[in-house]
Amino acid sequence: MRVIHSAKSMQETALGFKRQSKSIAFVPTMGFLHQGHISLVHHARQAVGKDGIVVLSIYVNPTQFGPNEDLSKYPRDFERDSSLCQEAGVDIIFAPDDAQMYGNRDSFSTFVVEEKLSVGMEGSSRPTHFRGVTTVVAKLFNLVLPDLAIFGAKDYQQAAVVERMVHDLNFPVTISVAPTVREQDGLAMSSRNKYLSADERQQATILWKMLQHAIVRVSAQAVRSAVLLNELEEKLASCPSAKLDYIEFFDPETFHPVSEVKKGMQMAVAVLMGKTRLIDNIRL
Ligand code: PAJ
Repeated sequence: MRVIHSAKSMQETALGFKRQSKSIAFVPTMGFLHQGHISLVHHARQAVGKDGIVVLSIYVNPTQFGPNEDLSKYPRDFERDSSLCQEAGVDIIFAPDDAQMYGNRDSFSTFVVEEKLSVGMEGSSRPTHFRGVTTVVAKLFNLVLPDLAIFGAKDYQQAAVVERMVHDLNFPVTISVAPTVREQDGLAMSSRNKYLSADERQQATILWKMLQHAIVRVSAQAVRSAVLLNELEEKLASCPSAKLDYIEFFDPETFHPVSEVKKGMQMAVAVLMGKTRLIDNIRL
């Protein structure tokens, strides 16, 4: 396994693989890896086989954090990440710093903006978030030159926004979306779970319980979204540390909100658990 810090050498290395007709599968991350990230690595390896190249990037991208968000305290542990990658069979870790990615920020002024799918939910709670995501993912694609990039269904809206960007801007990259990996009690794995106190961690299973409640409710027949929303808000009220950001029911392709919730629709939820923002989603 190689670790590359320089943007230029990442791109030169990728061009070298291209000349040898080797396939490149790419897993972009912000590090502090968990089994959710590692499952993406396994998908990557399966897709390109033993002759292909699996690249995982670790970069806490400042442009996707809002001014009052957790950029400075986002958890980092390169040593641990690096051994997890080695174990999982990653070929290259690309770990640039801010200077490599954005140079002198005053002279960086090009951003990639998706204007439809990125507007609601995470986009409305975190207004500049997706602009940062699409910009950094576009840059990473230009440096890693992947044939395939794997994203997690945990961040359903992010995967859709990236797919749209790839389609609209003709990136020669196939996007693959892998299922959410969960803890035994249903909590979706996330680097941010580390912020939770023991008590908040216990309460955090409420997100999974809300998703499960909705699945059961729509399994037999459609339910009005206002009715379901009420039931879910009541459930959440049993958690003293939880504050609802949003619950949305929407068409999984168009992202249009639905007033009648039925099987096959997508549900997404964002909750502030103490100071930690948790998100989850599921196909009903
Ligand atoms: P990060 O939160 O580190 O997530 C990296 C990738 O892992 C994303 O595609 C995310 O959806 C996936 N992932 C996270 N938790 C998961 C879980 N429990 N199961 C399956 N996949 C999971 O998402 C980002 O970083 C950044 O926005 C990034 C795309 C790297 C751009 O900076």
